[in-house]
Amino acid sequence: MTVQKHDVDAVTGTETTGHEWDGVKELNKPLPRWWLLTFYATIIWAIGYWLVYPAFPTLAGHTQGILGYSQRASVANELKAVRTAQGGLRELLAARSLDQIKREPDLLRFAMAGGAAAFQTNCAPCHGRGAQGFVGYPNLNDDDWLWGGTIEDIHKTINNGVRSDHKDTRATQMPRYGLDKLLEDRQITDAAEYVLSLSGKSADAASASRGQSVFADQCASCHGFDGKGNQDQGAPNLTDDIWLYGGSKQAIVESIRTGRGGMMPAWVGRLDPVTIKSLAVYVHSLGGGK
Ligand code: HEC
Ligand code: HEC
Repeated sequence: MTVQKHDVDAVTGTETTGHEWDGVKELNKPLPRWWLLTFYATIIWAIGYWLVYPAFPTLAGHTQGILGYSQRASVANELKAVRTAQGGLRELLAARSLDQIKREPDLLRFAMAGGAAAFQTNCAPCHGRGAQGFVGYPNLNDDDWLWGGTIEDIHKTINNGVRSDHKDTRATQMPRYGLDKLLEDRQITDAAEYVLSLSGKSADAASASRGQSVFADQCASCHGFDGKGNQDQGAPNLTDDIWLYGGSKQAIVESIRTGRGGMMPAWVGRLDPVTIKSLAVYVHSLGGGK
């Protein structure tokens, strides 16, 4: 093999590299000095970085770097600092009863802030960011409670859930009158007309009066003879025109047919006790508080 002498460019007098594209030839000139220096600097920077920070995987984990820097450790440190800044308020919250928390302004403020934050993360997906609720997911602002509106009631509902897998869950389930053929369609329609009349809506009078006796037989044990509901059973007040599932005739028939049976998970075990207390305080304050 012979070493080929490259052409010399006629205009600049510089030797070419021998690379040619469609008659355009590449001059063999040194790289610009600024470029080379920057290039070397990045190499030195990279070596420095490898030494100082965690970089290479090893069989047992990875190199630690001279600084021993770890994001995990710095997060843990920040959390510790926050806990210290909270000045033992969490411990106080854990120790105090719900009633005591309500009466101590510092604790109350702390619980409200923690409750509001935890609400956005855990509860807003179902109850809405403003706790306004959706069909099937109760509004928590309106002081109309299915399971009771004292702070203890609310705490128990959040802690144990509704029809959840917790052993002390809020459990009462309305019968599925249609699905389980406990009532005929005609009786369900009559009961629905009666429920409409209870909340002051226009209803078929003859059908509603037949529905009244169905109601007394089948429904009053939970919803009360006056239809005003029963919070021990989670049975909604049917006279206030506030509806969990809707107050149209169609929605009411569907409620009677299927029994609905909304579910909320128990939060004990998912959230720590202090957070659950804070949530109870926060939710209680939303509803105007009983
Ligand atoms: C998966 C959806 C879901 C999530 C998440 C959820 N809930 Fe609920 N919640 C429900 C449903 C459904 C009900 C109504 C159950 C029923 O039909 O009685 C309910 C009922 C309640 C009640 C009772 C209201 C009343 O009128 O008695 C409270 C209080 C409550 N939720 C608070 C919370 C809090 C606080 C959180 C966050 C920690 C939360 N919920 C998260 C679905 C949810
Ligand atoms: C064992 C108790 C029980 C009995 C009996 C019962 N209900 Fe209910 N009812 C409930 C409960 C609990 C709910 C709430 C369901 C939920 O939260 O998912 C409810 C919900 C409803 C609703 C929906 C209310 C809303 O706000 O959307 C209607 C309507 C209703 N019941 C009508 C009746 C009628 C009519 C009967 C009789 C034919 C009846 N219920 C019998 C417990 C009962």
